[in-house]
Amino acid sequence: MIRMAPSILAADFAALGADIDDVAPGADWLHVDVMDGHFVPNLTIGPPVVEAIRKRTDLHLDCHLMMTDPGRYLEAFRSAGADSCTVHVEIGGTGELIARMRELGLGVGLAVNPETGFEAVEPWLDRLDILLVMSVHPGFGGQRFMPEVVPKVQRAAGLAAERGLDLVIEVDGGIDTSTAGTMAAAGARVLVAGSAIFGAADRVAAAQAIRTAAEAAAG
Ligand code: DX5
Ligand code: ZN
Repeated sequence: MIRMAPSILAADFAALGADIDDVAPGADWLHVDVMDGHFVPNLTIGPPVVEAIRKRTDLHLDCHLMMTDPGRYLEAFRSAGADSCTVHVEIGGTGELIARMRELGLGVGLAVNPETGFEAVEPWLDRLDILLVMSVHPGFGGQRFMPEVVPKVQRAAGLAAERGLDLVIEVDGGIDTSTAGTMAAAGARVLVAGSAIFGAADRVAAAQAIRTAAEAAAG
């Protein structure tokens, strides 16, 4: 019922393959944080690394594009082996980006920052596979969970149920055993966790503990 998406942002990039193998038994998806140094003040990785990861694992590759111009790179991410891409609503051009992701056969995700209101994503819900609700300001791992975004998850889950949408709500930022339950109770079904999983000595046990906490709260 709950899917775990470890974020490789917290992995050792010099030992990425080994870290992915290590976490895989506890993972449903692998969350890949792409940062362009413009939309967020940080730089990470791009399609060549996704391509290398694709050769290493069959896990769903969930690419979170924290980019000002993701449209330029969607095809490259698809060719590299991305299963879904998630773009931010804050950059605009949402309708065209959704259409392009669909055309490429990607799972279609839309992300919303903590300070952005639910109204920004509400018109797009019926065209999405994934709504990614950020529970930290994007750009860095290891930040404190922002409980003020919980109502956004509740509203999205309520509307999705009301409209009978096949929409999964994913949450990202500060997710651990103490915050997963709140998010699952609000309606989140994919949980991204970076530091809480890769920072643990036993990554699979850490992922399972978060999953257990979420499933207990989701009911
Ligand atoms: C933040 C990224 C997150 C990050 C989460 O901009 O989108 O995916 O890896 O890291 P934690 O789980 O450490 O908050
Ligand atoms: Zn992310």
